Amino acid sequence: MALAIRTQARSLSPEKQALREEALRGFAASPKAMSPKFFYDHRGSQLFELISQQPEYYPTRTEETILRLSAGAIAELAGRNASLVELGSGASRKIRLLLEALRPARYLGIDISREFLDICTRRLAADYRWLDVHALCADFSQPLKLPAEALGQRPLAFFPGSSIGNFDPSEARAFLRNLHQALPAGSGLLIGVDLVKDRQVLERAYNDAAGVTALFNLNLLERIRTGLDSDIDPRRFEHRAFYNEQASRIEMHLVSRQAQQVRIEDQVFDFAAGETLHTENSYKYTPGAFVGLAGECGFVSVAMWRDPAQLFSVHFLRRE
Ligand SMILES: C[S@@+](CC[C@H](N)C(=O)[O-])C[C@H]1O[C@@H](n2cnc3c(N)ncnc32)[C@H](O)[C@@H]1O
Repeated sequence: MALAIRTQARSLSPEKQALREEALRGFAASPKAMSPKFFYDHRGSQLFELISQQPEYYPTRTEETILRLSAGAIAELAGRNASLVELGSGASRKIRLLLEALRPARYLGIDISREFLDICTRRLAADYRWLDVHALCADFSQPLKLPAEALGQRPLAFFPGSSIGNFDPSEARAFLRNLHQALPAGSGLLIGVDLVKDRQVLERAYNDAAGVTALFNLNLLERIRTGLDSDIDPRRFEHRAFYNEQASRIEMHLVSRQAQQVRIEDQVFDFAAGETLHTENSYKYTPGAFVGLAGECGFVSVAMWRDPAQLFSVHFLRRE
């Protein structure tokens, strides 16, 4: 039995191996928790795109409006022929709002969702034939080693979607310090950061009426069910998202609908009725708090843009 289990573990792809390690670790933890980076297989990436089209989900359309209106100013700060590096590039959609103004020399999309990254960067290359497009499947929560060509001239890192909010403040510092190490002095960092706001607006955004965010959250269990040797039944869990005002973050959980046991490989985990698996945090910042955090990590604020309702912010920072 033990031999059979080891054989199976060895035959898993690196993605499934990472999922296996995280699921075994996270289900054994107290409270149970997994990193949100495991949401993103191909279906997870497609579901995120659908979330971004939901009327309640203000971050995407607000950030896109800010980028559209600020493209000229961003291009002036970045200069022409920049080497663009997008972290968590997903559908590589937001960068399109900047390409004509920026006229970068190169674009490198970095994402953990391999197949989606491949499809979306190929599409970008086909639509912008003058642009030298590259893709790198990597985990940006680990120290990044950017290819030398990516840093050719005037590097500009782009980190949209308020993905920085998925890190807790100490993880966000570690991420920014790693990025500081990976970029030469003088590089730009264009980063989207969601803002502290009214609880209702926040909670609606993560509980869309069509239930797409619920499907996205449950997709984590679907990945475990289909990718690993597990009897987990996603129908026995439900989506919950709420604003934890004290911690200034949206929390997403999967709530066990009943007392149950879940097997992953040869390990069995007990869930009490109502017990949760914590799947995501999305921290909200004030502009001052974010600029302070970035400053601690060697990034100086150069400019910041917000929408009139002050829902979302985009910062241009310079690596010291
Ligand atoms: C919230 S979505 C944002 C997508 C897109 N950038 C946007 O703003 O609409 C997060 C993206 O980051 C990717 N991602 C999440 N965690 C990652 C990690 N640790 N390393 C690399 N990519 C990651 C996901 O696959 C996904 O495409």
